[in-house]
Amino acid sequence: MSYLPIKQLLQTAPASQTVTVKGWVRTKRESKNAVFIAINDGSTIHNIQAVAEPGQLSEETLKLITTGSCLAVEGNLIESLGSGQAVEVKVVNVTVYGTADPEKYPLQPKKHSLEFLREIAHLRPRTNTFSAILRIRHALAFAVHKYFNDNGFYYLNTPIVTASDAEGAGEMFRVTTLDPINPPRTEDGKVDYSQDFFGRETNLTVSGQLEGELGAMALGKIYTFGPTFRAENSNTTRHLAEFWMIEPEMAFFELEDNMNLAEDFVKTVIRYALDHCADDLAFLENRLKEEEKNKKKEEQSDMTLIEKLRFVVDNDFVRLKYTDAIDILLNSKPAKKGQFQYEVAWGIDLQSEHERYLVEKHFKKPVILTNYPRAIKAFYMKQDEEPATNARGEVFGPTVRAMDVLFPGIGEIIGGSQREENLDKLVTRMEEVGIEPEAIWWYLDTRRFGTAPHAGFGLGFERLVLFVTGMGNIRDVIPFPRTPKSAEF
Ligand code: 4AD
Ligand code: MG
Repeated sequence: MSYLPIKQLLQTAPASQTVTVKGWVRTKRESKNAVFIAINDGSTIHNIQAVAEPGQLSEETLKLITTGSCLAVEGNLIESLGSGQAVEVKVVNVTVYGTADPEKYPLQPKKHSLEFLREIAHLRPRTNTFSAILRIRHALAFAVHKYFNDNGFYYLNTPIVTASDAEGAGEMFRVTTLDPINPPRTEDGKVDYSQDFFGRETNLTVSGQLEGELGAMALGKIYTFGPTFRAENSNTTRHLAEFWMIEPEMAFFELEDNMNLAEDFVKTVIRYALDHCADDLAFLENRLKEEEKNKKKEEQSDMTLIEKLRFVVDNDFVRLKYTDAIDILLNSKPAKKGQFQYEVAWGIDLQSEHERYLVEKHFKKPVILTNYPRAIKAFYMKQDEEPATNARGEVFGPTVRAMDVLFPGIGEIIGGSQREENLDKLVTRMEEVGIEPEAIWWYLDTRRFGTAPHAGFGLGFERLVLFVTGMGNIRDVIPFPRTPKSAEF
């Protein structure tokens, strides 16, 4: 039995044709004159209504049709007299594929909390909220590939299992086939990794960047889009242990080009969602409006979700040096009143409260912060020639050509930089921060043979989905979230 997705059926003009709908029952309502069954198949936020005459379906069949059960309904597509839908299906025949015992099925037609739904991550895609999020997530992923393909980039697959710690931050998950309790040891008592599967220590990738740079030095413009893993113990609404990252890397790009690309890229993919996910975004916008009503007046947002997305797409991002951002923060009300939890001074790694002050209170726009202190950034970033100076001529420490893109409600959504292409400077920096050059000799070969200026960045895909859907917790924008003490499904 062939069938059409509900998304397509709802746009079909009524005619006396017979159609088949297949999907899961959302609600069933029985009245004197008819039985109304709302069915959803995941193709759209909207349900289709199937209408049967009283007595048309046996008592036995009617009992099986409960929220969550799965049906095939054959019938005629007719004009709907009810409000909110153009067409409905006048039932000819119903086949019940699978029942869902109302005593046991956890998704009943009422509002469930997001916390509760996290506990049933295997079923939550059947709710309106999560199906909308997953469709938007799909659209954004498609838009990412489309953007890069349209702009001459090649998709490079970088390894998931690797021996390198791209960020030099040591937040890696080990990959090993050795006995975890009693691993083989060398004479001096150390774990003998030569007996491990790969004959050395390996881990899950924290970033595809280093391999991405190899790609850029051969193909010109590449991007990666794959899972990355971080064993950082940050139980926040913005961190996952397993998240998807998009990392473009471009030969012959400098910091300015990198910023231009990042801004154009992120605006283009958000615009794509606005153009292609209107119904799902409208649903999520209404959901947010309901949530806002429960907030205190001063905490309520002055823009709706779609207004917020349009605002980002239609306005230039602010571009600002780290040193100037510190000045703004030092002169801010919260700094003067001692309201920041972390004190502001040149050299600090900006905390979320600082980033959000700049974006949400000071500029009220996305901000690209650049030229961070060298000491707080990764070893591979290109070093600035001159030390930082502020507007009053005060001189600070060395900086690098880093850029972070900060978004309202999110904080850092993109991190990137121009790369140090000079072999000697790179090796010196690695030695300073304790990374053995021999460990990534293959990476250094890019600087030994035909080195060139190049730059790139990483966009956390879930942070993008978080922003576009207006959700508040990153665990709710990935189908199966992995966080500390949580990997059930
Ligand atoms: O700033 P990060 O650590 O940069 C890199 O990994 C570079 N190698 C990127 C590059 O230049 N190619 O991470 C990049 C982005 C962050 O801005 C953030 O959006 C996201 O990845 N991210 C996370 N998202 C979810 N959970 C986490 N634990 C994340 N850590 C980083
Ligand atoms: Mg970062």
